[in-house]
Amino acid sequence: MAKLKVEGYGTYEVPQEKRLVKAIEDSGVDILHRCGGNARYTTCRVEFIEGEPQQQTVAGRDKLLEKEESGIRLSCQCLVEEDMHVRVIHTLQSTGLDSPGGEPADEITPEPVWIRLER
Ligand code: FES
Repeated sequence: MAKLKVEGYGTYEVPQEKRLVKAIEDSGVDILHRCGGNARYTTCRVEFIEGEPQQQTVAGRDKLLEKEESGIRLSCQCLVEEDMHVRVIHTLQSTGLDSPGGEPADEITPEPVWIRLER
């Protein structure tokens, strides 16, 4: 198990290797995942305060490059590797949307190709 601290919400015990977007949501935080966890709409963005994974998926990197986003990660493209402290960028409550989006699969989709973080 690992400790997942979500800024403004609390600290939760979550299984290591769990998909981060699901760990956040299963902890009771209403994070958005509008594309169902497929690295497309970037609504699952998080800022890492501590414990940023040192690997990333090619799909997640390419989407953030396309959107010219830096300093954030797609939680649907991260696994809980160790204790983490994150800030969730968009929640259902903060956006006023009617749904967080389709339920992400337990495994990372699309099929991940892992590379080292380039920072
Ligand atoms: S990019 Fe859509 S849920 Fe992560």
